[in-house]
Amino acid sequence: MENLDVNKLPKHVAIIMDGNGRWAQEHGQDRLFGHYEGVVSVRKVVEAATEIGIQYLTLYAFSTENWDRPATEVNGLMSLFVDTIAKEVPDLHKNNIQLHFIGNLAQLPPEAQKALEAGRHQTAQNTGLKLIIALSYSSRWELTEAAKKIAIQVQAGELSVDQINEATLSKNLTTSDFPDPELMIRTSGEYRISNFLLYQLAYAEFYFTNTRWPNFRKKDLVDALLDYQSRERRFGKTSQQVSPN
Ligand code: IPE
Ligand code: IPE
Ligand code: MG
Repeated sequence: MENLDVNKLPKHVAIIMDGNGRWAQEHGQDRLFGHYEGVVSVRKVVEAATEIGIQYLTLYAFSTENWDRPATEVNGLMSLFVDTIAKEVPDLHKNNIQLHFIGNLAQLPPEAQKALEAGRHQTAQNTGLKLIIALSYSSRWELTEAAKKIAIQVQAGELSVDQINEATLSKNLTTSDFPDPELMIRTSGEYRISNFLLYQLAYAEFYFTNTRWPNFRKKDLVDALLDYQSRERRFGKTSQQVSPN
């Protein structure tokens, strides 16, 4: 951690927490056991992010596509979300963390919606780490919703077609209150984006690790941040332009 340059930290880190199922199978356990262990990693990574001084942390917990998993796994995950939020919110609150949820939350069971709303409300005044949980989230869903919202504004005469720009789109995404992530981490050796923040990750640095999510700890986050800090972010320019001499 001493090797981290505090002046070059990403403001926003996004993580695709993958590999819970494989971790469980490798330990001769049911897939759900892997999801329970995954919660331990969430706690550790939230603590580490706070300590390091990350301002925004987005965690992909459940995708729109994950609804197609076997009912026992989906139901188990829903119970786990409700229990975890109820259990963790007091500590999150104590640590000044502000909780947010993005995704098609209306699809979640009513008790999950209630738990989320309670957690969000209880931590809304906090000023520390913004912890954003993507639940029943998919980027194509989000972009489709944004298109609809913009169309409604045009139809109502509040916006003209000429006024639509990139900022209009950003403003109508579920992430409108957050800057784009500079770093995206995916665990468990999968090299894909799986419908996560397609628009927002346009210029993010990607970091992939074979580590299964239940094994992911502060050291792994620090490794990802060190790797990020070793990269030259060019944004279309030449190397000469971004770091002369
Ligand atoms: C990620 O782990 C958690 C969720 C998608 C809910 P997986 O459940 O995808 O684990 P693997 O990829 O099957 O190992
Ligand atoms: C992506 O993981 C979603 C989450 C981590 C919540 P998946 O395991 O569902 O992704 P695919 O299906 O392997 O692409
Ligand atoms: Mg997976």
